[in-house]
Amino acid sequence: MEPEISLSCKDLVKTYPGVIAMDHINFELRKGEVHALLGENGAGKSTLIKSIAGAHQCDSGTITIDGKEFHSLTPLQAKEMGVEVVYQEFNQMPSLSVAENIYLTELRGKRIVADQREFERKAAELFKEMNLDLNPKVKVASLTNGYKQMVEIAKAISKPTTKILILDEPTAPLTVDQVDILFRLIHNLKEKGISMIFISHRMPEIFEICDRVTVMRDGKSIQTLNVKDTNREELVSLMVGRKLNENFPPRETEIGDLVLEAKDLCGNGVENISFQIHAGEILGFAGLVGTGRTETLRLVYGADKMDSGEVYMYGKKLHIRSPKQALAHGIALVPEDRKLQGVFLHMSIKANTNISILPKISKGIFVQAHKETENADQYIKSLRIRTPGMMQLAGNLSGGNQQKVALAKALATEAKVLILDEPTRGIDVGAKMEIYQLMRELSAQGMAIIMISSEMDELLGMSDRIVVMSEGRKAGELSKEEFNQERILNMASGE
Ligand SMILES: Nc1ncnc2c1ncn2[C@@H]1O[C@H](COP(=O)(O)OP(=O)(O)OP(=O)(O)O)[C@@H](O)[C@H]1O
Ligand SMILES: [Mg+2]
Repeated sequence: MEPEISLSCKDLVKTYPGVIAMDHINFELRKGEVHALLGENGAGKSTLIKSIAGAHQCDSGTITIDGKEFHSLTPLQAKEMGVEVVYQEFNQMPSLSVAENIYLTELRGKRIVADQREFERKAAELFKEMNLDLNPKVKVASLTNGYKQMVEIAKAISKPTTKILILDEPTAPLTVDQVDILFRLIHNLKEKGISMIFISHRMPEIFEICDRVTVMRDGKSIQTLNVKDTNREELVSLMVGRKLNENFPPRETEIGDLVLEAKDLCGNGVENISFQIHAGEILGFAGLVGTGRTETLRLVYGADKMDSGEVYMYGKKLHIRSPKQALAHGIALVPEDRKLQGVFLHMSIKANTNISILPKISKGIFVQAHKETENADQYIKSLRIRTPGMMQLAGNLSGGNQQKVALAKALATEAKVLILDEPTRGIDVGAKMEIYQLMRELSAQGMAIIMISSEMDELLGMSDRIVVMSEGRKAGELSKEEFNQERILNMASGE
């Protein structure tokens, strides 16, 4: 029996000035399947799903949903056909409650007070069904990114009319437990005959929950495969168009002298954190999401206020009260939330890569234009930022390429201590390897690198030493000879 097709895209083309985001894409979604979209940063995945949601119009091609053909699809039509999307970037009203955010579309023109209780009751029911421990009354602004994402997911599945559910990198901000909840949900939805498109840069997830996978490259749909008939190696080479060496680049230089020492840092939800880092060393920060890793390093960077504690650099005590002062001392940080803190989306790539180093490339009051250009050019090349040019607005780049701009912006400062918070989140496998290589080169030049990461592979592959955090405290520290996955997990869970 032929499988039932719930969605079919034929020859979709979408261009932006200087960019072909979709170059004759063909894609078919079967009823009740989980279909992965896989491809490098900028391959066109988000563009494809935005087309299916009617969020933007294609230049040409057709989209057929449930047998109905569309040449141009509006958001309303897509919704009426049962298409729901959880986007890569949040789209919420932070000042409203969780319940209000979920049922927001129903708010219009109703008696808000009366409905609110109803929303809360419905949301509570939904969360119970999802096995999610969340109070519908709290403001979305107070939630961690993981919970914000769960709210988006709840919203998408709350509609009884949903037939096609699209998830664009849903797991990127989730904790391990939340990923479990999501995967169980996906199973249940599948049983109900809902068709799903799932985007992720984490290969094991594709093998865990997807039935088929379509690989995209350079705006083209390369191939669709049954997940059980393929493997990681094949998918990676289809994605990047070449064989990829996935080994972590080894350390080739010695670790140098002490650069930075933090003593008994308190505040921002963490207590008595001490650590040291040396020139040319990569220090990993492990621990579950929300155990104070980001909070600790924001204290060092002056982004949040310390209650007590001391930071020394080359033996001298620092008094850092703002990120600006931290930068002046040679401490740079790339935040995990690029959209809020990492990049200026309304500014060009060129402006972003130069903004933190303007004094350095100026003569008198004039910025030396050629230095700006050289600097931007260098990072676009070395990080392989996918863009038609350096004047492109950062906001027009794909998610992963925005992350690369955030990285470039910090790297340009030529910091002595570079703090990277989840540096490869949302980054494709090829670009990940490039970032690891770059980290090795920088550390070989004597830079001290602190890397917060939730990816065990990169922690084990890149760190010289690992600090393990648990519930706002330092649970321990492990050297390269001592650390392995099991020890880190045990320590992180407070054993
Ligand atoms: N509004 C826009 N203006 C100009 N170019 C755009 C715009 N939106 C997307 N692009 C470009 O289209 C291409 C495809 O982007 P898309 O967001 O679909 O990539 P993606 O596969 O989702 O990547 P990622 O894994 O990084 O999220 C990229 O080169 C991107 O820069
Ligand atoms: Mg995307």
